[in-house]
Amino acid sequence: METKKRDGFNSRIGALLAIIGSAVGLGNLWRFPYVVGENGGGAFIIVYLIISFGLCTPLMMTELLIGRRGKSNVVGAFKAIDSKSKFYYSGYIFVLASFLILSFYSVVGGWVLHYLGESLTFSLSNLSSEDLTLHFKNLVSAPVRPLLLHFLFMFLTASVVIFGIEKGIEKMSKIFMPILFVFIVVLAIRSLTLPGAGQGLNFLFNIDFSKITMNTVFEALGQSFFSLSLGIGCIITYGSYMRSEENIMKSSIVVVSSDILFALIAGLAIIPAVFAFNFEPAAGPGLVFIVLPQIFSQIAGGSVFQIIFFFILFIAAITSSISLLETVVAYVVEELKITRRKATIYTSIIITIVGCFCALSEGALADFKLFGLNFFSLVETLASNILLPLGSIFIAIFASWVMKKKDVVEELSNYGTIKVKNLGYYFVIVKFVAPIAISFILIKSLLF
Ligand code: PHE
Repeated sequence: METKKRDGFNSRIGALLAIIGSAVGLGNLWRFPYVVGENGGGAFIIVYLIISFGLCTPLMMTELLIGRRGKSNVVGAFKAIDSKSKFYYSGYIFVLASFLILSFYSVVGGWVLHYLGESLTFSLSNLSSEDLTLHFKNLVSAPVRPLLLHFLFMFLTASVVIFGIEKGIEKMSKIFMPILFVFIVVLAIRSLTLPGAGQGLNFLFNIDFSKITMNTVFEALGQSFFSLSLGIGCIITYGSYMRSEENIMKSSIVVVSSDILFALIAGLAIIPAVFAFNFEPAAGPGLVFIVLPQIFSQIAGGSVFQIIFFFILFIAAITSSISLLETVVAYVVEELKITRRKATIYTSIIITIVGCFCALSEGALADFKLFGLNFFSLVETLASNILLPLGSIFIAIFASWVMKKKDVVEELSNYGTIKVKNLGYYFVIVKFVAPIAISFILIKSLLF
């Protein structure tokens, strides 16, 4: 029987842009700048860089190598590498985590679409702070609108995934990721040239080591993992589509550097403007949906910059959500043996249904609370604070204690054809440092 060639990335740049697309998301745009400022500015950035390069880069390499070695989805890859171990069960954690993250991520994606639409019709201009606050509250607590927006965002995500890797994900990343980088630089230049921008630079880069506590380190760890899409299975999935000649170590360094660079430029685009207009810096929805629109209505050409900003937010969000959906779809296609078309449609529908509960958690379901959390926060906490660290621990243990060292080295060196430096360091991190450090994160999350 003739076996069909597995779909995959057809170019180096396409693979890199897709992985960067997964990494660069809401985490970079609405969380990083604020977390930096709140946690000691430049001092936090130093801690963040150490964690990202020292710990997360080896983990990114590990996810990519597991994917590429197994040439399969998050469950199949473990089976293909070691048919005897039961580690493939950890693959189900990734399927579940991607599923859950997507169900709330796409609700936020829906809000972004709404604001993008409003920017295009100039309906956010000249609203006061109270008006914008009310406007946002009305949107998220409305009975129907957040649902429709969430459907639309999921539909757009699925419309890329349904075309597969080369024709869907790779193509989309090659077109939109460069635009994303150009636009964020444009915004940063605009923001930095505003009178009074210096105070924002101070908030971001003033090195204050007295703010570095154990909590800051946890903050940096959590931010770095989420921002790099680690522990969720997306990187394993994308790794499985990488060509055998790609250099996994170099690719990981490029992805991590790009993600950090993007986060820093996002900080430069947002924080100086916030200070120039005497607003309080904040994180999350409050920053992008309430504070920033007020700033845009006060600067010359603001409505154009507003459109650019929400477009950036939309691209950043959808390229991440595509990687989440792909992780689940690849599993369904390969393990449950159904066509990509059907798998994409069915999984999207199920995720959309679960997402409806998230979409309504500020409105019709606002009274539903478990452990004091509404449905949205519950799903978010379960996925990012529990499943993500758990998944990362399994990955580190699998690659360093279960897989044969020879296989790992073979995969990193492309069967000895390329030189890889610092392998000793790599193994120490993956074997000891990562499992211990991440267990601390997990324990801390469980104890709150
Ligand atoms: N990295 C994305 C962000 O920064 C979120 C994400 C997490 C995407 C996990 C995929 C997997 O927003």
